[in-house]
Amino acid sequence: MDKKNKVAVLVSGGGTNLQAIIDKVQNGELPQVELVKVISSKEGAFALERAAKAGIPTAVAKEQADVLNELKACGTELIVLAGYMKVLSEEIIKEYRNRIINIHPSLIPKYCGKGFYGIRVHNAVIAGGETESGATVHYVDEGVDTGEIILQRKVPVEPGDTPEDLAARVLKVEHVILAEGLKIAIDNLK
Ligand code: GAR
Repeated sequence: MDKKNKVAVLVSGGGTNLQAIIDKVQNGELPQVELVKVISSKEGAFALERAAKAGIPTAVAKEQADVLNELKACGTELIVLAGYMKVLSEEIIKEYRNRIINIHPSLIPKYCGKGFYGIRVHNAVIAGGETESGATVHYVDEGVDTGEIILQRKVPVEPGDTPEDLAARVLKVEHVILAEGLKIAIDNLK
């Protein structure tokens, strides 16, 4: 039997990426994953309801010291940032080096870093006249979106796309590669 790795997911919003992971744990596609906690930077985030419905313990932690306490309290081995809109403290990065992954809605190194998050990314991609975009799963280091890339997948930007159209197309790909990236990160632990 696969060893279960204790995975905590950090969120700030709707949590569709979290849902993709929950679904894959529940249907047996991620047998190495035990979801131990969902931690939100915001009260009322819909991601918290998704977690509660799946029977996963939840917490709201606005300060980084509280995030670290929550992570430690449930024996977290690996952290997934799934639409987490804050920058992690150096203390957390140090404690979990090579054990934190993030999903970003562009082809890093394009359209990433400070100020590039959520719909702003897709606005910029369209304004930049790009013909393709995509999503990236990467390790988290002290910088913003600078850690080693685990995998990327491209999608086309179609003529006439609104940022919302592009966001929806990229999000579908995110839901697939986040789980793939999580598997790779777990294999890399060994
Ligand atoms: C996703 O598109 C994710 O890639 C992005 O926020 C969205 C969250 O959606 N993250 C960032 O922009 C981080 N820089 P979700 O809450 O439905 O998973």
